Amino acid sequence: MFGSARGSVRDVVFVDGVRTPFGKAKGVYAETRADDLIVRVIRELLRRNPSLPPERVDEVAIAATTQIGDQGLTIGRIAGVLAGLPESVPGYAVDRMCAGAVTAVTTTASSIAVGAYDVAVAGGVEHMGRHPMGEGADLNPRFVAERLVDPAALVMGSTAENVHDRYPAITRARADAYALASQEKVAKAYANGQIQPDLVPMAARHADSGWELVTADEPPRPTTTLAGLAELRTPFRPHGRVTAGNSAGINDGATGCLLAAVEVAAELGLPAKMTLVGYGFAGVAPEVMGVGPIPSTQKALARTGLTIDDIGLFELNEAFAVQVLAFLDHFGIADDDPRVNRYGGAIALGHPLASSGVRLMTQLARQFAEHPEVRYGLTAMCVGLGMGATTVWENPHHDAAGNSAATGGTATATATS
Ligand SMILES: CC(C)(COP(=O)(O)OP(=O)(O)OC[C@H]1O[C@@H](n2cnc3c(N)ncnc32)[C@H](O)[C@@H]1OP(=O)(O)O)[C@@H](O)C(=O)NCCC(=O)NCCS
Repeated sequence: MFGSARGSVRDVVFVDGVRTPFGKAKGVYAETRADDLIVRVIRELLRRNPSLPPERVDEVAIAATTQIGDQGLTIGRIAGVLAGLPESVPGYAVDRMCAGAVTAVTTTASSIAVGAYDVAVAGGVEHMGRHPMGEGADLNPRFVAERLVDPAALVMGSTAENVHDRYPAITRARADAYALASQEKVAKAYANGQIQPDLVPMAARHADSGWELVTADEPPRPTTTLAGLAELRTPFRPHGRVTAGNSAGINDGATGCLLAAVEVAAELGLPAKMTLVGYGFAGVAPEVMGVGPIPSTQKALARTGLTIDDIGLFELNEAFAVQVLAFLDHFGIADDDPRVNRYGGAIALGHPLASSGVRLMTQLARQFAEHPEVRYGLTAMCVGLGMGATTVWENPHHDAAGNSAATGGTATATATS
């Protein structure tokens, strides 16, 4: 079917990933268009990888959950053209709510694996300030009226309260402690300069004060304390457990990555920061959507022949502390396990829905370079309407003896073993 690739599957490498700093809805990007955010990301990927001839990009797959307005009309095509890619480079839009960018990656990577593409751009954008989740949707009344799902399934914070109900051992105090640790880890990663290298500064205009160069994430609250968290109200249920402090917020931002067949990356002198091992998507009851990463991870591990003990680094999206804790409890991992979210997570950094998956991958890639002793890592996230998404990656810098870290090493045709 695919000529020279017939009968074989090619290894796919994560060449590079970048993102805009994330903003708070109605914050730094209040007057910035969503498409300008993702265009900036694509241009930065090309700038950072000058040995990639733009015409060698075979596809631009960009996710957005709310595909209207400045996120509509096939955002992947529009962003590619606006970013200056040749008109011969096609593009499309992807939607799997929070796992949009993950799906853009797995779909284009699979196309690379079978030989349909050599190089792809995959990413996501979400301007939740301009486009609240569900804006313009016309949900079939049968989805709720016929009791296919609990109405709570449509309010993500309520689904998180439901996860607390299901796992009584996950208390508000535990969720708040997890949230505080996320804030502290982000502050530490910023202090160590581990987040900034993969941010592209973004010019944001404000009608009253002019232009601002956004160089850091807006949502983190480094002064967070347990006492402060304990005082927050529970907006999704009286006397509930989910608060603004132990949830991701409402955010704006864009992410993108370059993917390539391992031999094409080698030919073009591009780095191989991670090698895709496999992935899994799974569905769960929408009213407890936060548990989705458990079966998606089980599926991904089963299909890749790995076990949870093979995974040395985890990048878990923190939509809500409770759903991360449910994942950790399920797999017998401690709340403060150092393999998990070493740079903190979405509770502090923000979660612009469809973009977040590539933030997880970009952070995992940087940690792979820092940790050659680690061979495998995974990203996992819960997905609205009841799904989970997991990707499993191998570290091309892996050195069983844990010796040298070949940061950003150039791809070789034998990156995986
Ligand atoms: C939880 C949620 C409703 C809070 O929204 P919000 O009220 O606009 O959030 P804010 O940032 O204004 O925070 C609310 C209050 O908590 C305080 N707060 C937030 N985080 C805090 C922290 N870490 N420490 C101390 N106080 C904090 C704020 O200062 C604010 O206080 P104020 O009311 O006195 O001004 C909203 O963030 C949300 O819906 N999150 C989930 C998003 C989602 O569903 N994503 C998809 C997942 S699948």
